[in-house]
Amino acid sequence: MASWYDRAIIYQIYPKSFQDSNGDGIGDLNGIRQRIPYLQALGINAVWLNPVFVSPQVDNGYDVANYYAIDERMGTMEDMEALIRDMHAAGIHVIMDFVLNHTSDQHPWFQDAVRNKASIYRDYYIFAGENGKKPNNWGSFFGGSVWAPDPSGSGQSYFHLFDKRMPDLNWANPEVRLAMGDVAEFWLGKGIDGLRLDAFIHIAKADLQQSFPSNSDEPIVAEPFFANLPMVQEWLRPFAERIKADYPQAFLLGEAASASVNLAVDYTSAYTHLMDSVITFRYFTTDETGLDARLPKQYQPVPLDWREFRKTQVVWQQTLAAQPTLYWGNHDMARLATRVAHSETEARSLAMLMYLERGIPIIYYGEELGMQNLQFNAVSEFKDASVDDFVQKAMAAGKTKAAALKMVSDTHKLPARGPMLWDDSKHGGFTSGTPWLTGQLPAVASVAQQQNDKHSMLHFYQQLIAIKQQPVFQDGAFRLLNLGESTYVYTRTTAMESALVAINLTGAEVEVKLPAGEYTQLLSAGEYEQVSDKLVLKPHAGVVFQRY
Ligand code: GLC
Ligand code: CA
Repeated sequence: MASWYDRAIIYQIYPKSFQDSNGDGIGDLNGIRQRIPYLQALGINAVWLNPVFVSPQVDNGYDVANYYAIDERMGTMEDMEALIRDMHAAGIHVIMDFVLNHTSDQHPWFQDAVRNKASIYRDYYIFAGENGKKPNNWGSFFGGSVWAPDPSGSGQSYFHLFDKRMPDLNWANPEVRLAMGDVAEFWLGKGIDGLRLDAFIHIAKADLQQSFPSNSDEPIVAEPFFANLPMVQEWLRPFAERIKADYPQAFLLGEAASASVNLAVDYTSAYTHLMDSVITFRYFTTDETGLDARLPKQYQPVPLDWREFRKTQVVWQQTLAAQPTLYWGNHDMARLATRVAHSETEARSLAMLMYLERGIPIIYYGEELGMQNLQFNAVSEFKDASVDDFVQKAMAAGKTKAAALKMVSDTHKLPARGPMLWDDSKHGGFTSGTPWLTGQLPAVASVAQQQNDKHSMLHFYQQLIAIKQQPVFQDGAFRLLNLGESTYVYTRTTAMESALVAINLTGAEVEVKLPAGEYTQLLSAGEYEQVSDKLVLKPHAGVVFQRY
């Protein structure tokens, strides 16, 4: 059965930063609703909202304290219902972020589990060990051990893969699996069109007694023990089957950060049918030859390794039967225009490269304007202990504080979540109050300016999204041509038509020989010259051709 999501073009909205409607400095659901005409004009047909459930906001909503209610900073249930209704009226599908690996420590389940050792909710979480001794040496993604002391003082510890205020759910418990299925069904019952399953690859854990072999006493991120274990598939099967039985058109988009392409195949194949598509973090291998060995690598800006990128893309394009996801940024990484593209031409070319491949584009809000990461002026603005450590080491290695802060601003995830730039009023039209996130946005033209400029990035993205809807870019076979390291050239071909996308990855002019054919331009970035099969691309230029 054909599904709407096979043709999805998704726009990712970070609700806290998109549009504030009541002046408290925090973006909200009614703000998003006001901007539906903008989304419609952009041409996307789905939005993914980062979490909007009740949350203490330790991890900006990924710490959920009540799955059945909207955080009051975001709005009300009525606002959410109105948003779904208005989005649908505008032809836009709504995908909600669904946090299923962990809850907030403020969730009533965890509160009861701690208060009462006989609580049935004790087994909703993972308590282990005794006398304050940690069961193993596994490390958390957010630093330190995965174990934190049971606040009730039992001597046991509880498991948390992320922040210690985000205890992991015990998916080995069938009641947990049912309860999370109920949550999913509740929201699908409200009319949403899909779920982005946060960190789902981590729901199964290996034997907790097993430490990861190591010579040090430091906790280590022991991914083989808590990522992509076989039980992930076992436990998600009934969950997915139930959803698909009740809502056959529900889109299940899984966040499979570290999954190999083979696992991605397993998660998305028609036989297992756990997910309809997955988001991998493996696209962006970086070239680390220029790293400064004196500093932690986490906040050192490094270029992409284009050779690895090319290989990874081809493998994912060729291997997945399901639709791959296509993206350059999200709320967990620095923005495209900060991380990879260093000119507007390059940003446009890279957008063509990525989004015209086979698969589902996910465009991170503000990318269509060329927005960059915010620049923070103080360590405290990052709200992250690892930044302090980095800045101290960078200064000890002779960097100025400003230079160190720039490195972190250019690589950290938080400055990638800056307020959307709507117009030229104070705070860019995002809020009449004080934005929840401060910091300077490097100069970029606002939506209002770009709407009035036919040559703007915004208009370019509108054209690109329109082109993406053509059958050849939806259904065409993908083939990367081997035309050398400086360029990225591929064809998309159906029985009826053919297209070619050619991008210059370098800052120098390059010439390539095209396959025989007649070429008509559909879209371009930068300058190029084409005479029959000879194509010359100026630095970072790109072009999309229809081919006859
Ligand atoms: C995912 C989210 C990230 C969050 C984490 C824990 O990786 O994308 O932002 O911190 O899960 O929920
Ligand atoms: Ca608000």
